[in-house]
Amino acid sequence: MARSDHSRHILVTGGAGFIGSHLVEQFVSAGSHVTVVDDLSTGRMCNLDAVEPANLSFIEGELSAVLPDLDAEQFNEIYHLAAAVGVRLVVDQPVRVIETNVLETLALLRFASAANVPTLLASTSEVYGKSDRVPFGENDDLVLGPTTEPRWAYACSKAIDEFLGLAWHRDTDLPVVIARFFNTVGPRQVGIWGMVLPRFVEAALAGEPLKVYGTGEQTRCFCDVRDVVGLLPRLLQEPVAIGSVLNIGRDVSISIGELAQLVVDVLGSKSSIEQISYEKAYGRPIEDMVHRRPDVSRIQSLFDFNPAISLEQTIADLASERQSGSSTQGGEGAA
Ligand SMILES: NC(=O)c1ccc[n+]([C@@H]2O[C@H](COP(=O)([O-])OP(=O)(O)OC[C@H]3O[C@@H](n4cnc5c(N)ncnc54)[C@H](O)[C@@H]3O)[C@@H](O)[C@H]2O)c1
Repeated sequence: MARSDHSRHILVTGGAGFIGSHLVEQFVSAGSHVTVVDDLSTGRMCNLDAVEPANLSFIEGELSAVLPDLDAEQFNEIYHLAAAVGVRLVVDQPVRVIETNVLETLALLRFASAANVPTLLASTSEVYGKSDRVPFGENDDLVLGPTTEPRWAYACSKAIDEFLGLAWHRDTDLPVVIARFFNTVGPRQVGIWGMVLPRFVEAALAGEPLKVYGTGEQTRCFCDVRDVVGLLPRLLQEPVAIGSVLNIGRDVSISIGELAQLVVDVLGSKSSIEQISYEKAYGRPIEDMVHRRPDVSRIQSLFDFNPAISLEQTIADLASERQSGSSTQGGEGAA
């Protein structure tokens, strides 16, 4: 399919993952053709069950191995979401996390630049590290811990992705936008990689204790994936956003202890709430961020972004998905 064809053709890497699958579904519903490249390491095919197959090309494989067989000219836009995600994975498989996040992004940028395809790179609020200067603004300093702490390798690998993306933009005019996601939650996310909300929902439904890591006083801001994916295509359409970094999220904080209580209340669960140490949770001590809140003034001024889905609604939707047995895979976050 050439770029001048009637229908737009979009490449979504990691499109069988949590955020990626919602994005793919949105593009296909809007009439685009989407090619997904995913190695199914944390994503699942069933995440794409609702997508009209005629407008989806799925290629299973490691991104850098697949790209040489694709022609960049055929794509109007690229959304690069493929990554080894989250703190649990970096603790368990540090080499895989660093190699995937850095080398696959480098391969993707080289591919995109061959035809100057506008490209969105998914980054993370983890890059702010342990900065205590909340809310986090896009131009704030990144405060990472020592290289002897494997936890910081995830943030660092994503920061390298940002440097790479911005360097390609400066050197070659490749249209690149960096989307720094804060905690994104919603249907299709599960707790196996440590993501806090699905972990709590699954425990509450099973009548098991909700395990809060640390004191529970650490705060996070959650935004529903359905609000997030509605914003993403607009980022590549906005000339001012090209070549920049944007925080993507909602700026309403909740402590993890309060979140556990909210899940119990919304689901009417009889589960208890227990505190456990990070060491017990991860098998080694983990340095966590106390507060993590985005400065959202850029996305609000550029896009008037006001997420509509409440945290209570997300919790209820996650629970009904679990109860219908259609839940899938993992996600990011220690919390
Ligand atoms: N979920 C969040 O709260 C959150 C927060 C910040 C940033 N992010 C970023 O958003 C993006 C998507 O995250 P997600 O939460 O949907 O996670 P996810 O694990 O569901 O999605 C990642 C997808 O990439 C695929 N993948 C991994 N390595 C690959 C490779 N080498 N080649 C091809 N495919 C590969 C996985 O199978 C998976 O489908 C990631 O870049 C992540 O860093 C997510």
